[in-house]
Amino acid sequence: MGKTSTANLLLPFLFVLFSSSPPLITTEASKLGSFRFAPRFFGRFAANADLNNLQTHKSLKIQYETRYFTQVLDHFSFSNLPTFQQRYLINTDHWLGPNSMAPIFLYCGNEGDIEWFAVNTGFVWEIAPLFNAMVVFPEHRYYGKSMPFGSRDSAYKNAASLSYLTAEQALADFAALITDLKRNMSAEACPVVLFGGSYGGMLAAWMRIKYPHIAIGALASSAPILQFENIVPPETFYDIVSNDFRRESVSCFNTIKKSWDAIEAEGQTEEGLLRLTEEFHLCRNLRSTQDLEDWLESAYSYLAMVDYPYPSDFMMPLPGNPIKEVCRKIDSFPDGTSTLERIFAGVSVYYNYTGVVDCFDLGESNQDLGADGWDWQACTEMVMPMSSSQSTSMFTAYDFNYSSYQDECFKHFGIKPRSRWITTEFGGHNLLTDLKTFGSNIIFSNGLLDPWSGGGVLQNVSETITALVTKEGNVPQEFCFHPFASSCRSLGFHPRSH
Ligand SMILES: *[C@@H]1O[C@H](CO)[C@@H](O)[C@H](O)[C@H]1NC(C)=O
Ligand SMILES: *[C@@H]1O[C@H](CO)[C@@H](O)[C@H](O)[C@H]1NC(C)=O
Ligand SMILES: *[C@@H]1O[C@H](CO)[C@@H](O)[C@H](O)[C@H]1NC(C)=O
Ligand SMILES: *[C@@H]1O[C@H](CO)[C@@H](O)[C@H](O)[C@H]1NC(C)=O
Repeated sequence: MGKTSTANLLLPFLFVLFSSSPPLITTEASKLGSFRFAPRFFGRFAANADLNNLQTHKSLKIQYETRYFTQVLDHFSFSNLPTFQQRYLINTDHWLGPNSMAPIFLYCGNEGDIEWFAVNTGFVWEIAPLFNAMVVFPEHRYYGKSMPFGSRDSAYKNAASLSYLTAEQALADFAALITDLKRNMSAEACPVVLFGGSYGGMLAAWMRIKYPHIAIGALASSAPILQFENIVPPETFYDIVSNDFRRESVSCFNTIKKSWDAIEAEGQTEEGLLRLTEEFHLCRNLRSTQDLEDWLESAYSYLAMVDYPYPSDFMMPLPGNPIKEVCRKIDSFPDGTSTLERIFAGVSVYYNYTGVVDCFDLGESNQDLGADGWDWQACTEMVMPMSSSQSTSMFTAYDFNYSSYQDECFKHFGIKPRSRWITTEFGGHNLLTDLKTFGSNIIFSNGLLDPWSGGGVLQNVSETITALVTKEGNVPQEFCFHPFASSCRSLGFHPRSH
């Protein structure tokens, strides 16, 4: 969603989670040691969001009924496992009914509370009336209220209970749910159109590929379906983040690049850690510089994902062009100001824009949440290798090391990742050629400043598989698929009527 990314339509993929050294806002980073995960899309935010405070769409009517559907736990075996209740949100206000062939818009739930995605996906709500469409938001299993085994604790207990948390099972859930819903509503003839952003965008694209008889087309926003194995260089993500800062200000880029050594130097001693605690206004004494570095990396990566030209409130309340704002702060001090003082001022734009934060909590408070669903997914099939290049990245140099990645996953969950499974299951190495041969009706939307765009589909594949690419910060006018669709209006976009 950055300015660019925005284009991205939906959510920035907070995917930033795993693979690399991304910024984890999360505590998991420290739990997983020096292991670098890729940045997460948004799981944690979505999980923690105060839904009552989400007022992004004051002007947009987002209303839905909440329902539950009894879902099979393992779609791919006949073992006698318990079923679970999958939550879904539905709105039929604008739908013309079964005889009209009016479409059903199905949003592929991401790794988080579905209500959060629903209120942050204005585009779908905005266009539904234009198409007389029904809107359905099924929640992804193991997130929000869609917990197998009766509770989050039981679902997240161990590798055995988590084993049904996979993209394939989630797609099968969507397929089973929509098929049953259509039958219940005598709507078998109504076409289903898929939507999704970030991980949800990957699901939308994959679902169109795997279930072409169920969905007629997909809009996959900011979906890095090529960010697996060696399909794109592992440096891509951090290079894009870094370039987003460098294009604002080279000195800002350089200050950030220097700051990691400054933090390491200071953190050598106990007193140094205390000084860092004070300098960065932390709530708790810093135990390792890694925690602080992860927190900073998170901020920079998310900033790249939400670098919109207008104020937004997607993950954090932010001014328009937040990277410019961060760099303006970092560059604004007189010569002789320490690197850390500059960095603190810069990152405060992200973490404390409203000025109401008393102290910064690096995320330890989330520890009691236990394992995060995205961590599990990243440690099983969603292995997205990420590196940080010495020469082109502003982050600490880091080479993706699959064997240490495996070790960390084993330590954490007692399982080994299957890094080649996604491309085996959904394709990847020759995906564009494959799609050209057998695929149709997918729109991939990306903003080039969005760090996830590096693993996205950026070229037109065929007449019916197209890429909408936004180079600078503009929301593509014809396709304002953005969490804050209402912001699109302020950019002069008005949905065309048909
Ligand atoms: C369809 O109707 C049955 C019977 O009322 C119900 O149990 C089921 O949950 C419904 N399916 C969906 C997707 O709501
Ligand atoms: C947040 O901003 C306010 C206003 O500038 C400031 O008083 C406060 O100390 C900041 N909080 C932190 C944790 O730095
Ligand atoms: C990768 O990690 C493994 C296990 O942690 C370690 O033994 C190996 O030296 C690392 N390889 C490189 C190239 O750093
Ligand atoms: C793909 O084709 C569409 C429609 O012709 C066009 O608007 C779009 O710019 C093309 N995308 C790219 C990346 O060339």
